[in-house]
Order: sequence, then structure tokens, then C-alpha cells
Amino acid sequence: MTLLRVENLSKHFGGLGVLTEVSFAAEPGEKLALIGPNGAGKTTLLNVIGGQLSASSGDVWFDKRRITALPPNKRLHLGLGRSYQINNLFFTLRVLDNVLLALYGGEKSHFRMLGTLVKRGDLLAHARRLLETVGLWEKRFHALDSLSYGDQRLVELLCAFTSRPKLVLLDEPSAGLPTAEASAFADVIRRLSGETAILFCAHDMDLVFNLADRIMVLCFGRIIASGNPQEISADPKVREIYLGADDKC
Ligand SMILES: Nc1ncnc2c1ncn2[C@@H]1O[C@H](COP(=O)(O)OP(=O)(O)OP(=O)(O)O)[C@@H](O)[C@H]1O
Ligand SMILES: [Mg+2]
Repeated sequence: MTLLRVENLSKHFGGLGVLTEVSFAAEPGEKLALIGPNGAGKTTLLNVIGGQLSASSGDVWFDKRRITALPPNKRLHLGLGRSYQINNLFFTLRVLDNVLLALYGGEKSHFRMLGTLVKRGDLLAHARRLLETVGLWEKRFHALDSLSYGDQRLVELLCAFTSRPKLVLLDEPSAGLPTAEASAFADVIRRLSGETAILFCAHDMDLVFNLADRIMVLCFGRIIASGNPQEISADPKVREIYLGADDKC
């Protein structure tokens, strides 16, 4: 059963065509990477799928529903999650409080004080599982702003999974991390995501080749190659792009 289906999707900004007739599908649990040169349209594609940008033409189907015109919060409630931006977090609050707030935000009910959230055993147990998965349970009482940048990125990443989504969109999840931390990131994302599908874009080829079941290559707004990591690394067109000849795609 297909989880996500993108059909002939195009996006123009004024006269500038950024995505042209993009079509692909993702299966439940699949880890799908989107790679391509700067300006290829990767972030734009994630934004159109997530609902932050509207499509100029074409359709997005998710879990058998046509979601092309739905706003991001409705997509989230259907199980289509997106990485938190780091500036959605509360830096002066403790790590645990940030996770509890993200967990609570994924629920459909009303406002509560943070103090009462801590007493919610189910939320706390879920927060503990997530924090243990990324190795941050020991730091749960630290203020977020006292953590290293890498640990802050882990909290940000973790918050994308709090609503138990079916699919998470991640834009450059390891950007800005030192190489050593970035290479461990693939394991963390795999553990955290479990059965959740991921569509992620990245320039970090270690992350791409360690995490992806399948890789799609976007160039000037078109998918020019798609395959498993072995097929993509052997593809002559892709090799040319990554040897620097961007104009060849
Ligand atoms: N809101 C916008 N208005 C006009 N043009 C835009 C807008 N957003 C993106 N673009 C243009 O669309 C093209 C694709 O941008 P996008 O950010 O999707 O590329 P990308 O593949 O994510 O690049 P990078 O690898 O650098 O993150 C670029 O030419 C960019 O300048
Ligand atoms: Mg981008």
C-alpha cells in the first residue's frame, strides 16, 4: 500500500519554474532520500508536500486522501509530520519540558499548564522512551540552552516524532553538525523513526547512504534518477552532478 503519492507536481514562483511535473510514491516505513544540487527544488518539494507552500499544479495524496489543498496542521493530524525548526523550541525550558510540550501539542485537546503535564504518566513515559532513544534522558533536567548544538538538534529531531506520525519530512537534519556527530545521526534517525516513513533531503552523503532505502535525485526541479543506494552511486548522470558538472542534468 502506498503511503505518499506525488502526481505531476509543479511549482512556480512568478515566472520561475522550480518544480516540473514531479511524480513519485513512498511506501509505509520507507526511508527515502532526496538529493540534488543547491537550488534544485528539494526544500520547495518538501514544503509543498508539508503544506507550507501550495502547488501550482498536480496533486499530493497521503494515506489514500488527496491532501493537495489541506493546511499543514490538518496534514499533521493525518500523520504527516515535519521536522520542528530549532527556533520552535523553548530554550530556557528544560529538555523534558520541551518534549512534553511537543507531545501535548500533538494531542487534539485544550490548554493545560506545564506543571500538570509533568503529572501525566502516559506523556512522561512516552517522553522518556523518546529521550532514551536519542541518549538524552540523563540530560532531561538541563535547560535546552545549556546543551551542545548537536544535542539541541536531537531534541528538534525528536519533536518531529512525538505525534507518532506515519511520515516525517526532514530538511537537512544533520546540517551544521560536526562530521563526527553527523555520521552518528543516521543511527539515531533510524532508531527514532522505527516504522515511520521518512522523506529527507540532505547534502551529507554519509547520512544519505547510511539511512536511505531509496534515493531520488532532483535537478532543476525534475527527478532525473531514482533507485537504491547501489543503483544511484553507479548512475553515470548522478556521478557527473556530484563531480561538479551541475549543468549536465
Ligand atoms: N519563496 C520563494 N520565492 C521565489 N523563489 C524561491 C522561493 N523559494 C525558493 N525559491 C527558488 O527556488 C529554487 C529552489 O530552491 P530550494 O530552496 O527549493 O532548493 P534546494 O534544492 O532546497 O537548495 P539547497 O540545497 O541549497 O537547500 C531556487 O532557485 C530558489 O531561489
Ligand atoms: Mg534546501
